[in-house]
Amino acid sequence: MGMFMENTGIITKKKPTPTLPKGRSTALQVKHRTQSEAPPPFGGGPEELVTLREPTDKEFEQVCAFINEFELDCRNLKKEQFITAFRGEELAGFGRIREHTDCFELCSLGVVTKLRRKGIGKAIVKKLIKGSSKNIYLVCIIPEFFIPFGFQVMKEYPASIQNKIKYCSLELAVPETYVAMLLHKYQFHNYLKGVKC
Ligand SMILES: CC(C)(COP(=O)(O)OP(=O)(O)OC[C@H]1O[C@@H](n2cnc3c(N)ncnc32)[C@H](O)[C@@H]1OP(=O)(O)O)[C@@H](O)C(=O)NCCC(=O)NCCS
Repeated sequence: MGMFMENTGIITKKKPTPTLPKGRSTALQVKHRTQSEAPPPFGGGPEELVTLREPTDKEFEQVCAFINEFELDCRNLKKEQFITAFRGEELAGFGRIREHTDCFELCSLGVVTKLRRKGIGKAIVKKLIKGSSKNIYLVCIIPEFFIPFGFQVMKEYPASIQNKIKYCSLELAVPETYVAMLLHKYQFHNYLKGVKC
């Protein structure tokens, strides 16, 4: 798809920082915690920075291994579809936008188990959405995770999403029900402006 060849995101630190030059990756500071919350396993400070970028070939192999381990959608995986999050050299998470003939789909989203609930999944989704100029569908069992971005549960959706629900129900069977969701581009802009959708 080539939509992430240029990284145009910004570093979110305590102070706003300028846009990174082309070809550089994007970093962000993950969730700050109150004293009562458990400290992140990797401590605070600069190590808390997570870098978001396209994976290298070798890193992509690692992503594919995690996709199998987490039993996520492993069909038609292409390196260029992905955004990966790194804490230093360590792969922290990943997600992709898959281009179908009838729509775009956000899928194969995962964060390594020990680094979950620190804002990394949210950061990956935000980066994927920002890199897309189209409306985005997804199929999931955790709609509450995606609603804050402006995704809405849909009863009608394109054929490829219908196929995805069928694939998930047959190949990735879980007790929860799979739902299809759609994000209209303008709703994400509202989310970025802090407007509730
Ligand atoms: C789902 C997943 C990607 C979330 O990543 P994460 O880094 O742990 O999520 P974040 O820390 O960015 O969470 C962002 C918000 O979503 C909430 N959230 C996180 N995981 C959630 C879940 N499984 N269900 C519902 N809400 C969830 C968090 O509480 C947080 O809310 P807040 O911003 O109000 O504090 C991660 O748990 C994962 O890899 N799960 C296994 C694979 C999977 O289920 N992928 C999704 C397929 S559609």
